[in-house]
Amino acid sequence: MVFPDGTHAVDDVSFDVHPGEFVTVVGPSGCGKSTLLRIASGLEENTGGSVTIDKSSIGYVFQDATLLPWRTVQKNVELNAELQGMDKATRRQKAMEAIELVNLVGHEGKYPKQLSGGMKMRCSLARSLVLNPKVFLFDEPFGALDEITRERLNDELLRLFLHERFAGLFITHSIQEAVFLSTRVVVMSARPGRIIADYRVPYDFPRQHDIRYEPEFAELCGKISNDLKDAHS
Ligand SMILES: Nc1ncnc2c1ncn2[C@@H]1O[C@H](COP(=O)(O)OP(=O)(O)O)[C@@H](O)[C@H]1O
Ligand SMILES: [Mg+2]
Repeated sequence: MVFPDGTHAVDDVSFDVHPGEFVTVVGPSGCGKSTLLRIASGLEENTGGSVTIDKSSIGYVFQDATLLPWRTVQKNVELNAELQGMDKATRRQKAMEAIELVNLVGHEGKYPKQLSGGMKMRCSLARSLVLNPKVFLFDEPFGALDEITRERLNDELLRLFLHERFAGLFITHSIQEAVFLSTRVVVMSARPGRIIADYRVPYDFPRQHDIRYEPEFAELCGKISNDLKDAHS
C-alpha cells in the first residue's frame, strides 16, 4: 500500500484468516495496522496485491465506540440492522440477544453519556453482532480502557467468539491481549509494515482467565516482545 503522498504503508503482507480463527496483528505504532484493516474491509483501496473477503458480512469495531449520543443503548445496537433495512420486530429481537451476549441487560434504556468506557465498547460490539458477521475486524477496541476492564472484555470477547465462530482479525499493542485472544499472532515490522513473525498460540478454547500466568504464556509474550524490539530498530 502506497498512499498518494508517497507514504509506503504496508509491504509484502500475506496471510489467511479462516472461520473459527482469531488472528491478532501487533506492531509498532504507524507500521500500517489500521491501513491493513481498512484495506481488508474495503474502506481503503490497496495499490498492489489482492484481498479476498466476504464483504457482505463484515463487522468492524474501532477504538472509539462511535455511539450516537441521542440514541439509547437499545437503539444504538439496532442501528446497523436498521440501516440494512431489517424489519423492526426482527432487529429488536436480534438487538436483545446481542445485548444479552455482551452483558448489558438492564442498561437498554441508557444513553451513551451514562455508560462507562467498558460499557460503551460492549454496546459497540453488540451493534456489530446484530448482523452476525462472518468476518469481524477489530482496530484496538480496548486500547483506551484500564487493564482490569480490558481483561474482562477479553474474557467476554472469547465467549462471543466461541458462540459465533466468526473469522477474527484483531489489532492491538498489548502483547498479553494478543496471546490471550488469538489462535495466531502476526508481528509486523516498522513502516512499511512487513510480517516478521507468525506464532500459533498453543491453547484450546474455552480459555481460562489465569492462563495469563502460565510459563508457556509468558514465554510466548517474551518472544513477541523481542520481535517488537527488533522491529523498532
Ligand atoms: N491517507 C493517508 N495518507 C498518507 N499517509 C497515511 C494515510 N493514512 C495513514 N498514513 C500513514 O501510513 C502509516 C501507517 O498508518 P496506520 O495504518 O494508521 O498505522 P498503525 O495503525 O499501525 O499505527 C503511518 O505512517 C501513517 O501516517
Ligand atoms: Mg492504528
